[in-house]
Amino acid sequence: MSTPELSLMAQWLRDASPYIYAHQDRVFVLAFAGEALAEGDSVSVDALISDIALLTSLGVRLVLVPGSRPQIEAELLDDGVSTRQHLGMRVSGEQAMPSIKRAVAVQMLDMMARLSMGLPNTPLEGARLSVVSSNAVVARPMGVREGVDLGWTGEVRKVEVTRLRSLLDAGHTVLQSCLCASPTGEVFNLRAEDVALELAACLQADKLIFLTESSVELPKQMTVTEAQPLLDDASLSMEMALHLESACKAVRRGVERVHLVDRRTQGALIQELYSRAGHGTLLTAESLEKMRRASIDDVAGILELIRPLEEEGVLVRRPREQLELEIDRYWVVELDGQIIATAALHFFIEARVAELACLAVNAQYRRGGRASRLLARMEKEARQRGMQTLFVLTTHTAHWFIEHGFAQAQVDALPVERQAMYNAQRRSKVFTKALSAAGSATNPS
Ligand SMILES: CC(C)(COP(=O)(O)OP(=O)(O)OC[C@H]1O[C@@H](n2cnc3c(N)ncnc32)[C@H](O)[C@@H]1OP(=O)(O)O)[C@@H](O)C(=O)NCCC(=O)NCCS
Repeated sequence: MSTPELSLMAQWLRDASPYIYAHQDRVFVLAFAGEALAEGDSVSVDALISDIALLTSLGVRLVLVPGSRPQIEAELLDDGVSTRQHLGMRVSGEQAMPSIKRAVAVQMLDMMARLSMGLPNTPLEGARLSVVSSNAVVARPMGVREGVDLGWTGEVRKVEVTRLRSLLDAGHTVLQSCLCASPTGEVFNLRAEDVALELAACLQADKLIFLTESSVELPKQMTVTEAQPLLDDASLSMEMALHLESACKAVRRGVERVHLVDRRTQGALIQELYSRAGHGTLLTAESLEKMRRASIDDVAGILELIRPLEEEGVLVRRPREQLELEIDRYWVVELDGQIIATAALHFFIEARVAELACLAVNAQYRRGGRASRLLARMEKEARQRGMQTLFVLTTHTAHWFIEHGFAQAQVDALPVERQAMYNAQRRSKVFTKALSAAGSATNPS
């Protein structure tokens, strides 16, 4: 590895460290389709196994729920048995069950074997993974639905949470099959997605992760309310719609974070879990973003956000000491501990005028309406303090302000003390906006 690559890696590790701490001893349920383990795709199987090994070595408690559709289909084909689908599920009849059991049993053994590798140059070199399967998911038949007997197609009756918890607490990785037994001693064929959902909900897992077989073309973060209309969106693939529906259900059942991550993109899972930018889509009950007043603890985060813009000349340079002294004038948008946007208000009480300053949004989070929301909040704050006019000085962003109801003005429109501080060399343009008592048309929320 070259020196620049090594220093990039060191920086990446530093950036990942808050996530490494945050995920330690957390329970994640990881569901993936049978395609992820299909023969002939050893590169991606190895990548998945090494991601699993990495997560466990970083202290994550994992429950793995593989799907088995292609394995079952291949076995049924070999045995010359055909099955039919009803309500999006396979009807697991008496004839099909031996093939289904064989396919899943072989798949689980193969997976166990892969997770047991310890040879040099394998994904698990040096790792000692303890993997267990259990009967903690109890099944029941789905029965007759819309006139069709689904046979040995089942659903989750209950999850033995205490038993599973103790396995996870003892450091075992749980490998959960989609064939589960009922208290009558019969074996039922369950949808892996449903098993994962029930496990995550009953265990109150910290995360439920669905690895998808197609790219996740959804926003990086969504609340359930935002995701709901997408479920009726015809442009969404069948796979994505199913995942999104299960993700919404899981969040409603109390799983705090559900991730959809493209399994076929190398490193996507690790990026999603250990980087700020992420890779897939995170679904939560409420927005994780919080807009709030800044405190002294935010100074470093604000500086990190605005320094590049100061260097480009977009914002005026603010020394740290000034920022510390004026921190109560700042508002921030925080996401997962990072300051992703900020704005400040300076009041000229006698003139009943406020200056909007230091409006900035992290480049990765632009065009999401954050600046508009911050502006609306600043306008509200200024109005509450009895201000009648808001002004801003800008060199690069004139049109944004015009589109948000500002009009260009002359420097002499500024309060006298602000005119005295006007930097003639910088030649910023002045924009003002009257603050109506009723409220502002710019507030999108
Ligand atoms: C300007 C800025 C705050 C907007 O943040 P944001 O969260 O992306 O803003 P919103 O999502 O509310 O608005 C996005 C819209 O503003 C437009 N926009 C962004 N910068 C603009 C600019 N300089 N001039 C005109 N329009 C601009 C975007 O193109 C987008 O419009 P579109 O979706 O119709 O194409 C952000 O781009 C930024 O931090 N810029 C650098 C700092 C800066 O210029 N601050 C102003 C200091 S006076």
